[in-house]
Amino acid sequence: MHTLEQEAHQRDAGDPGHRHLFHVPPADGGRHPEAAYLAGNSLGLQPRATRDDLLADLDAWARLGVEGHLEAKRPWLPYHELLTGPAARLVGARPAEVVVMNSLTVDLHLLMVSFYRPAGRRTRIVIEDTAFPSDSYAVRSQARFHGLDPDTTVVRLTPRAGEDNLRTSDVCDLLAAEGDTVALVLLGGVNYLTGELLDIPAITAAGRAAGAVVGWDLAHAAGNVPLALHDWDVDFAAWCSYKYLNSGPGALAGVFVHERHLGRTDLPRFEGWWSTEATTRFEMTPVSRPPATVEAWQISNPPILAMGPVRTSLEIFDSVGMPALRERSLRLTDWLGRLLDEVTADRPLTVVTPRDPARRGCQLSVRIGAGSAAELAKRLRYEHGVIADAREPDIIRFAPVPLYSTYHDCWRVAEALAATVPAVTR
Ligand SMILES: Cc1ncc(COP(=O)(O)O)c(C=O)c1O
Repeated sequence: MHTLEQEAHQRDAGDPGHRHLFHVPPADGGRHPEAAYLAGNSLGLQPRATRDDLLADLDAWARLGVEGHLEAKRPWLPYHELLTGPAARLVGARPAEVVVMNSLTVDLHLLMVSFYRPAGRRTRIVIEDTAFPSDSYAVRSQARFHGLDPDTTVVRLTPRAGEDNLRTSDVCDLLAAEGDTVALVLLGGVNYLTGELLDIPAITAAGRAAGAVVGWDLAHAAGNVPLALHDWDVDFAAWCSYKYLNSGPGALAGVFVHERHLGRTDLPRFEGWWSTEATTRFEMTPVSRPPATVEAWQISNPPILAMGPVRTSLEIFDSVGMPALRERSLRLTDWLGRLLDEVTADRPLTVVTPRDPARRGCQLSVRIGAGSAAELAKRLRYEHGVIADAREPDIIRFAPVPLYSTYHDCWRVAEALAATVPAVTR
């Protein structure tokens, strides 16, 4: 047996994680029965408990019909409240600041209705040049909605020439210099492409000091890195639950609005019957009475069958805890990083994620110097059973997820890259 493979097995024995709680897909190729699943940054694996929990909610509907709203074991009327505590703990928020609802881009729009209020010179929206396209489209459409030109309203932050990642100081300097023209800063906490973890408290402080509102897309941060949204004074944030939160394809999103904005009557908000105080919901009055919590941003009655998998998954995070997960994540990603250092040294492959563990979550992104990333991902899958996520033209992303990935999975990534990408003699 290869000594590094042996070391991987030893590390797994000493630091096993919680893989037993998840379904791991079978491999489509290679010599191992299970896939080395490194794509949890795209779609997390299914917790074993999800199916039974979901069946219990389906059974309640079958047995009770409409009476399930009050009589189901987990009554549907207050069902969303079951998610509030665990979601708040996950992102470092107070329960009144967090609600699970809708999907991520929809929530970003609903939040921008309240928090993107261009006025006078202060109209611009700052995003990353490598923002996820949905966010780019969302902010451009918000600019148009306000009658503004998206090309001049949206400022796209780029790294310095020859660098792959943003420097916090550059972002803060820009906000200090031009902040009086900025209405909204909307950045990804962990960048989807590079895996860079931005300094959320520092950038939030700089944006707010400049008089802008600061919101965060935490799709790649929630469940990946520890967050303290309340203490960091973040204005608002949203995240999806289908990546690190393992709640299934297209799963519901989470929303955070800082306490200081709750109950404000000067903020515009779109409303529906779920925006009103729960106790008044069935009074069927023509005018709403929104609560002084983030639930005022809810609109429709929540989809119970979609909430179930989020509830099941958040219970796992609650029982394991983000501090323990982060510790394992640092160990696992460091191991993958060291293996990648070896395999990339003499191949046209470059790790673009910051080397400093404080500036990244678990994802390591590799730029390939030749050929197509999608083609490489296909070969890794069908020849080696390694599932990774390609972003054309040239990035392939590997995320050893601390809940279920193994040291041996990481070793398989390196072995598969070594076998697939020819070494070059320098
Ligand atoms: C950073 C980021 N923002 C937004 C989205 C879009 O999410 P949704 O389709 O759930 O709105 C994604 C999807 O992967 C994402 O990674």
